[in-house]
Amino acid sequence: MKIAILPGDGIGPEVTEQARRVLDALDLPKLTIWEGDVGGIAYKRHGHPLPQETLEMARAADAVLFGAVGDPDCDDLPREHRPEQAILGLRSELGLFANLRPAAGYPGLEDMSSLRPEIARGIDLLVVRELNGDVYFGDKGERSSDGGREGWDAMSYNEAEVRRIAHTGFQAAQKRRGRLTSVDKANVLETSRIWRETVIEVAKEYPDVELDHMYVDNAAMQMVRSPGQFDVILTGNLFGDILSDQASACVGSIGLLASASMGERQTDFGTFGLYEPIHGSAPDIAGQGKANPIAAILSLAMLLRHSLGRENEAGRIERAVAKVVASDVRGADLGGTASTSEIGDAVLRQMTALA
Ligand code: NAD
Ligand code: IPM
Ligand code: MN
Repeated sequence: MKIAILPGDGIGPEVTEQARRVLDALDLPKLTIWEGDVGGIAYKRHGHPLPQETLEMARAADAVLFGAVGDPDCDDLPREHRPEQAILGLRSELGLFANLRPAAGYPGLEDMSSLRPEIARGIDLLVVRELNGDVYFGDKGERSSDGGREGWDAMSYNEAEVRRIAHTGFQAAQKRRGRLTSVDKANVLETSRIWRETVIEVAKEYPDVELDHMYVDNAAMQMVRSPGQFDVILTGNLFGDILSDQASACVGSIGLLASASMGERQTDFGTFGLYEPIHGSAPDIAGQGKANPIAAILSLAMLLRHSLGRENEAGRIERAVAKVVASDVRGADLGGTASTSEIGDAVLRQMTALA
């Protein structure tokens, strides 16, 4: 089993260090761990945010554990050299088209939700976000216009792209509560019209899943009004990015939500994937020991489950995290004073107790 760890920038290395401690504590047999540079640090060291060597390392691994990329020093670089291009490049080069972002309330954490506790308690949803298309990967550029410089980004989805992510969404719903909400902007966008028509076609293969459609503006409103109504949310790259950050505040903190980015490639133990917190490099708190490592630790749990076939270990990590989140060991993001490594310590203690 080979895992490539790409810590990246800002709090990326701080939170992946805690995930690494958890991984080491599992003492899995026949595990090889590689580490590579990615993002701003890679640009500074190698002249490119996604060096060929890092990409090859990721390709050769069974799974990738990713921290975060983004560096204020690099904000004025041309787009192709910005740290963010590294994660976009990994997602597209590795064919990782399905991004799974679970968000569930924790008993004992309701007081930290931006919502009223009785509303927060009902959250148990999964955002299935398309990751290889949309306005992210369309043609883009700058041109002159009567109004001065004009930036433009083309948004598009073809049927094949919608179909494959729709299958992921319906299959996820079958394993959950059997409900799928497709989120689009079909009242305005041609991209969304094709999206919706294609999702309706695919739905015929899943008569056991209850499908509904929601415009993205309404979905954003419904998520803070009554998030408990959602099971699986199926949506495109941009809407999924925004709605998942919003879901994190409904749960309690962006430092809690993990993600899996999957394609079709099978390994000897499961499906190849890249696993990362949904948050970024958080330059405002980087280097201060204030980052919550739970999202990174839960990303490791998803890695163990989906790519390495280690359901027992994944479940043990998730149960340990639930205990820590319900305890008084909380970071600044959850109104506490625990440092990044103290939260890591607490997870390790709970894992020992559960062993
Ligand atoms: P961000 O997610 O980095 O931070 C948003 C806010 O949440 C900040 O106040 C931050 O301190 C807080 N936060 C984030 N993670 C936290 C954690 N684990 N514990 C406690 N608090 C946490 O988003 P941003 O500020 O918009 O972006 C910063 C940089 O990160 C940018 O360069 C952006 O492009 C990049 N980014 C990268 C990824 C990624 O690597 N996948 C994701 C999102 C943003
Ligand atoms: C995320 C991030 C990325 C995205 C950026 C850094 C490219 O916000 O992983 O959610 O927009 O997908
Ligand atoms: Mn995001």
